[in-house]
Amino acid sequence: MNKYKILVLAGDGIGPEIVGEALKVLKAVERKYNLYFETRVALVGGASIDKYGIPLTDETLKLAKESDAVLLGAVGGPKWENLDYSIRPERALLALRKELGLFANLRPAKIYPVLADASTLKREVIDGVDIMVIRELTGGLYFGMPKGVEKLPDGTERGINTMVYTTPEIERIAKVAFEVARKRRKRVTSVDKANVLETTELWRKVVTEVHKDYPDIELSHMYVDNCAMQLVRNPKQFDVIVTENMFGDILSDEAAILTGSIGMLPSASLGQRVNKVGLPIGMYEPIHGSAPDIAGKDIANPIATILSVAMMLRFSFNLTKEADDIERSVENVLNKGYRTTDIKQEGTKVLGCKEMGDAIVREIEG
Ligand code: IPM
Ligand code: MG
Repeated sequence: MNKYKILVLAGDGIGPEIVGEALKVLKAVERKYNLYFETRVALVGGASIDKYGIPLTDETLKLAKESDAVLLGAVGGPKWENLDYSIRPERALLALRKELGLFANLRPAKIYPVLADASTLKREVIDGVDIMVIRELTGGLYFGMPKGVEKLPDGTERGINTMVYTTPEIERIAKVAFEVARKRRKRVTSVDKANVLETTELWRKVVTEVHKDYPDIELSHMYVDNCAMQLVRNPKQFDVIVTENMFGDILSDEAAILTGSIGMLPSASLGQRVNKVGLPIGMYEPIHGSAPDIAGKDIANPIATILSVAMMLRFSFNLTKEADDIERSVENVLNKGYRTTDIKQEGTKVLGCKEMGDAIVREIEG
């Protein structure tokens, strides 16, 4: 069988805890299905800064490029907040995305019926929500040039970021959105600010053009401010949302919290590179951050990272039944009333991070 190489980058804060549980789950899947993954570990973010002075070394980047998939925890924390932008922990994440060409970030926000009451929104608003946010990940405001902060002759400063997209960049992310929608409910909402920003006027034009190849998909356009509102007003209207990098950063957090906790949401970042079996090489990570305030307390929710492993098996390794098994096991554990503190409800049993990992492993082992 194929031996897949996975680079594990636990990162900072709760990163090592949640990744530890995700690896336990991966091991359980290996045992059950007689698989073997070659995992390698490296430092990233603040952990790498502490040891090497920079958030991502050439060596780690090389390991990432040689892998079939990267599993990442989270980066960043107050300890490194005063460093220059160029060597902040977050830079590692951005560099990995850019260097690996991972332009399509898939962030599914799906409600577990049993968690519907853990949401801050009313059950009737969120029951049945199943949204896929597709965030463009290597362009737009995050990467556009020029950028930086410059000193002006009068002693004040000027900060600059540039939102820029080219036709091919928009075309490829639009295609991903339509392809993904084809396997879902066949509706795409393209989110822009075409009434103000020229870049996104181009975005709208190109998405409309690409759509001609997908007559079976229903396309609508929405301004980003309206989308932010519609997500809390009537989230069930959405199937696939495709949008610019920073809009996607913001809207995916909003979509995530509809489900009750940001601690539940996995993500997959995919590009054009494929592995030896022709499947996309990806980076898989929870969408939440490093949560330094709860780090080391064994109370973090490992589910987003565990579900990221499921996405990895599904997208990069085509191990569908194994991915289904993980997702079903997570759901079963929740149905049995087990919760981490972020999703606790009346009458449920609160588990620590490790205990939650163990419970999911037990469920997989059956
Ligand atoms: C995310 C995060 C990152 C981003 C940060 C940590 C750089 O918020 O993945 O959504 O802004 O992309
Ligand atoms: Mg974010």
